[in-house]
Amino acid sequence: MESDILIIGSGAAGLTAALALAEKYQVTVLAKGAISDSATGWAQGGIAAVLDAGDTFDSHIRDTMIAGAGLNDRETVEFVVENAPAAIERLAGLGVPFNDGNLSLGERWHLTREGGHSHRRIVHVDDATGWAVQQALQRAAAAHPNIRLMPDMVAIDLITGRHQQAFSGSGHVWGAYAFDRSAQKVEAFCARATILATGGAGRTYLFSTAPSGATGDGIAMAWRAGCRVANMEFMQFHPTCLYNRETKNFLITEAVRGEGGLLKLPTNGERFMPRFDERAELAPRDIVARAIDHELKRLGLDFVHLDISHRDADFVRGHFPNIYDKLLGLGIDMTRQPIPVVPAQHYTCGGVVVDRCGRTDLPGLYAAGEVTMSGLHGANRLASNSLLECFVYGDAAAQDILRVFDDLPQPPAIRAWDESRVSEADEEVIVQHNWREIRRFMWDYVGIVRTTKRLERAMHRVNLLAGEVDDYYGNFRVTPDLIELRNLVEVARLIVRSALNRKESRGLHYTLDYPRMLPTAQDTVLVP
Ligand code: FAD
Ligand code: SIN
Repeated sequence: MESDILIIGSGAAGLTAALALAEKYQVTVLAKGAISDSATGWAQGGIAAVLDAGDTFDSHIRDTMIAGAGLNDRETVEFVVENAPAAIERLAGLGVPFNDGNLSLGERWHLTREGGHSHRRIVHVDDATGWAVQQALQRAAAAHPNIRLMPDMVAIDLITGRHQQAFSGSGHVWGAYAFDRSAQKVEAFCARATILATGGAGRTYLFSTAPSGATGDGIAMAWRAGCRVANMEFMQFHPTCLYNRETKNFLITEAVRGEGGLLKLPTNGERFMPRFDERAELAPRDIVARAIDHELKRLGLDFVHLDISHRDADFVRGHFPNIYDKLLGLGIDMTRQPIPVVPAQHYTCGGVVVDRCGRTDLPGLYAAGEVTMSGLHGANRLASNSLLECFVYGDAAAQDILRVFDDLPQPPAIRAWDESRVSEADEEVIVQHNWREIRRFMWDYVGIVRTTKRLERAMHRVNLLAGEVDDYYGNFRVTPDLIELRNLVEVARLIVRSALNRKESRGLHYTLDYPRMLPTAQDTVLVP
């Protein structure tokens, strides 16, 4: 199937790009499950932007760089922060119903606060901002005659010169092969330009707030095709994921702490964050997650408490209606009781290296959103900067393609997917077993606090699994689970390699063997 532009991913980054490109060109958008299945749809807190008269770009830039522990690229931070208000206007124009502010005080929208922000600057739709954004983008995309939304298409690999009928060594990207879940076969989707908007790799870890599709497919595909990947050691752990035996990955938004929620020990009710940082509960995430991890290990606890029951019950219900309902269904009334929480993987700061136009190292290939390393987040992402990055970079990639489209060559004839030498998988249990094993050792050995010895152990295991998975992939017909497993192994290896390369502690990467931060901040760039 051919279109002008192929976008892999239907979250905030992919749909933002699609809407901008569709004004002139035919766009195909692939999603590996339902179109609405994305981290975007799960976002709670909101989107950071300077919208208050008392706030400044300089302050948002400074907060972003402090959270990022100096590893951010300043020009990229300026680019994103300065484009934030326009991105919010575009979303409002698409019908995103941001919560109103106090108009008599000149506030158009209600702004909430999150850790690491020195000002209230998070626009939101109650505590389910991502769902409102995803719905608005999706509505507009579905109504656009130039956009074809294709759910249940699992991209496997990018199409490059190697896949031309007349083989060429060119690294130009002409689209992707994808497994069609309904037809149970692999199809080639060809295009003059391709945008990777596949989100993060949270599911490399046993406990993650991310949706099950966050298996780092885009990062692995780009790496295999020849793109540099950077800063993969900076995996963000959100401090407050609900601790519950049945519901394992429900996030309790940072805005709960922004509105006064306190972290306490379940043993004696002590508020412990002031012992760790003067910003207490509103310190950046890496600090709060590490402090909780420290207390859990020190006292042998399963969880700590997040308590907002001292605030007025109507205020709590009004600000967090979805979280309130969800918790009540689990027997916790957050207006009267503390919430048991633990840290869990939440966000992938590293990814495919892109420039400020969203261009990757390969001609014809762009990337936007959580799949990328744009330089915005540095060693730790500031809360609510990531949806923002999707809107700014989704648009930036689209604008670049609009500029250069006429110079992009037509895709050549591409070989069909060859299954002549593989057979039906005989032992599905291997895929499931390897999947569990990766996620377990990544959690145990490559988590919040690291050591070189644990990282080496993880590397040893990941190499063994990579051999097994390669063998399996080479001999058996692809399935969605196998595609994801192959990518998980690739991404786990990139994370461990990056972590071993960094001989310091900075931002989210904390190792007992190198507890100090080096004077110069340097990206970890892996070259395929
Ligand atoms: P996603 O929204 O994750 O979309 C990825 C898309 O790629 C999906 O459509 C998926 O189907 C598709 N895809 C993936 N692999 C393939 C493949 N192989 N083939 C085909 N399609 C594929 N950030 C904020 O700024 N503010 C918040 O309040 C906030 N809250 C969050 C709460 C939670 C619980 C989580 C998990 C994250 C939160 N984040 C928040 C982070 C933010 O939601 C994500 O970083 C952002 O939504 C990523 O958007 P994206 O477009 O890059 O990817
Ligand atoms: C949250 O609501 O706590 C998540 C915000 C984010 O990940 O930026």
